[in-house]
Amino acid sequence: MKTLIGANWKMNPGSFTEARDLSRGFTVPESQEVEVVVFPPAVYLRELADAFPHLLWGVQNIYSEPTGAYTGEISTRMVRDAGAHYVLVGHSERRRLFGETDEMVSKKAAAALSKGFRVVLAVGEFEKGTGIDAVVESLKRSTQGLDEGDLSRLTIAYEPVWAISTSKNREDATPGYVEEIIGILKDKLDVRYIYGGSVKGQNAADFLRARDVSGALVGGASLKADEFNVIIKQAGSLDS
Ligand code: PGA
Repeated sequence: MKTLIGANWKMNPGSFTEARDLSRGFTVPESQEVEVVVFPPAVYLRELADAFPHLLWGVQNIYSEPTGAYTGEISTRMVRDAGAHYVLVGHSERRRLFGETDEMVSKKAAAALSKGFRVVLAVGEFEKGTGIDAVVESLKRSTQGLDEGDLSRLTIAYEPVWAISTSKNREDATPGYVEEIIGILKDKLDVRYIYGGSVKGQNAADFLRARDVSGALVGGASLKADEFNVIIKQAGSLDS
């Protein structure tokens, strides 16, 4: 199973020029076993994907319907035309700030998978100590109805929201904790799992070495090329 290192830029950087400079600074992984996927703001995608074809590109969100009266939304076909290989769905900021439910997330995942995209679907508890049951339930509902045949293109990002760098009262998740939770999730749904929550150059290797963790979704640290390159490098040297 390949290792996926995802750069989730969220609503950053503030201009296309900065986005281009940042992309230019990313190193291509030496190992064929590492995929680097950048999720920029969708308006930057076309030009970035054209300029940097050696990276994989994704979008941070899509809508599940193919066309129609959905002001402000973008479809799978539009993002394919813009150069996306990957679609991210269910990020906690979409869920918390924009009211996305598990049901909406499963429809988005199904729409993207049925069109041949690779999908990263995020789940994770909002508060520390709220228990694994809610995460398992969310995973079940968010993946309900997905075609078995499409699951080889599905990656689950486990992101405990309390460990995300911008969370209020943020705390570090430990690799042991992440390993335990992902082990439980993988028992329920056997696909590729990655971890997200304050992954940096300094701690990446510890998370990437945890059992059943096949990569990382990186927010803040992906906005600094040097820092992100350290993470890519760590992913490439896991076997050594
Ligand atoms: P972070 O963000 O790396 O800044 O914690 C991760 C995410 O929200 O996907």
